[in-house]
Amino acid sequence: MTIRFTMDKITKDGDPVLRKTAEKVSFPLSEEHRQLAEDMMTYLVVSQDPEQNEKYGLRPGVGLAANQVGESLQMTAILIPSEDPAEEDDEPYFKGVIFNPVIISETVGRVALETGEGCLSVDEDVPGFVPRSKKIKVRYQDEKGDTYEKTLRNYPAIVFQHEIDHLHGKLYYDHINKAEPWKVDDNTKYV
Ligand code: NI
Repeated sequence: MTIRFTMDKITKDGDPVLRKTAEKVSFPLSEEHRQLAEDMMTYLVVSQDPEQNEKYGLRPGVGLAANQVGESLQMTAILIPSEDPAEEDDEPYFKGVIFNPVIISETVGRVALETGEGCLSVDEDVPGFVPRSKKIKVRYQDEKGDTYEKTLRNYPAIVFQHEIDHLHGKLYYDHINKAEPWKVDDNTKYV
């Protein structure tokens, strides 16, 4: 596995590419886009390996959007580890690069990570709850251009919403209540 993206390649908050709506990706994928998808996923795989991430100095990530490596394209790599890491079969919960994703339905009920969210492009963690829809249905294309619909709940739903936000120029702290960042809302559960 050749790693092409390291921390110095990750675009940082303040770079205008993170605030632009990304361009749709067309199919069949160009060789350049196919390579980009592979390199984005490699970052995530290596970043989640404790030995390798130290070797390359990578911050662990579960998602990496194309604009986080400077490409304003509707594609994001997602690697959500197995829900039960104690299980022998540690197949990831989700591993794939998704293209042109759209949230087609979402619940009013919200969830937030108890510790708040973080982002590879935001060096200093912004504290506060990031309320997200508890359950979403997302439509996206895979590398071949095939269309899928997937329903996600709780943590995986949070990851997908964080990544899809990137493709629309949004960052997680945009959702934090500035006046009361840790305010508990009746409609929000914590995971
Ligand atoms: Ni992020």
